[in-house]
Amino acid sequence: MALGVKAAPFTFVLHALGIALAVLVLIWNIDFRGGIVWESTNKSLIFNLHPVLMLIGLVIIGGEAIVSYKSLPLKKEVKKLIHLVLHAIALVLGIIGIYAAFKFHNESNIANLYSLHSWLGIGIIVLYGIQWIYGFLVFFFPGGTNGLRRESLPWHVVFGLFVYLLVVANAAIGFLEKLTFLENSGLAKYGTEAILVNFTAVGTILFGAFVVLSVLSQGQAEDEYSYSAI
Ligand code: HEM
Repeated sequence: MALGVKAAPFTFVLHALGIALAVLVLIWNIDFRGGIVWESTNKSLIFNLHPVLMLIGLVIIGGEAIVSYKSLPLKKEVKKLIHLVLHAIALVLGIIGIYAAFKFHNESNIANLYSLHSWLGIGIIVLYGIQWIYGFLVFFFPGGTNGLRRESLPWHVVFGLFVYLLVVANAAIGFLEKLTFLENSGLAKYGTEAILVNFTAVGTILFGAFVVLSVLSQGQAEDEYSYSAI
């Protein structure tokens, strides 16, 4: 199944893209949208936490967690710990990010869960949580039998990649939805902000593509340290 190429070039591009995307989403929400805060009379500022936490958490840190087996020249046990901790950080930031969207809606008297984006979003966070808990119990603590781990691993990889692709697709839908709201309220369709948001969304999809390419490529040291499920 693996592509006959090394993952390193893909993971380097991925790290650079990740940093660029984090900067872009912060510039958008701080410079263009007025800032990110937890409490304010200007409720839009509370919403701004949502794209920032979802992109930096689920998309970027979640993506880095997935490729950590391919990008780090470390022992398997260390990589496993890094993998599960990065996913835990991604999950917690994702939960806080979704909470921020609900908080904004509730404090602005806007209905909850009316869009495809929000339905997929709830599904994603539940599946991400289930995937993390199952992985923790079977591969880390208390740990399953050798047979269960062997049989679970390909499912863990495929299911994990599937949930991650949903994350990337839903982030793109989120950018589209927010930009459409803004354009319907008068934002210039070809203005700097619209271009910035579309650019960030395209970058998000590219980032997802590099995660998939890294997963399908050969890790740093395909020796006794590495899993090579794909
Ligand atoms: C991939 C990660 C994401 C997930 C899992 C996610 C999940 C959610 C959920 C569950 C809601 C519903 C909140 C409620 O009903 O009160 C929501 C709302 C919203 N999200 Fe996201 N989101 C993600 C990324 C983004 C991004 C990157 C943007 C870009 C701006 C965005 C824009 C929005 C908007 C505009 C709303 C309010 C309208 C609506 O409920 O559809 N989301 N999101």
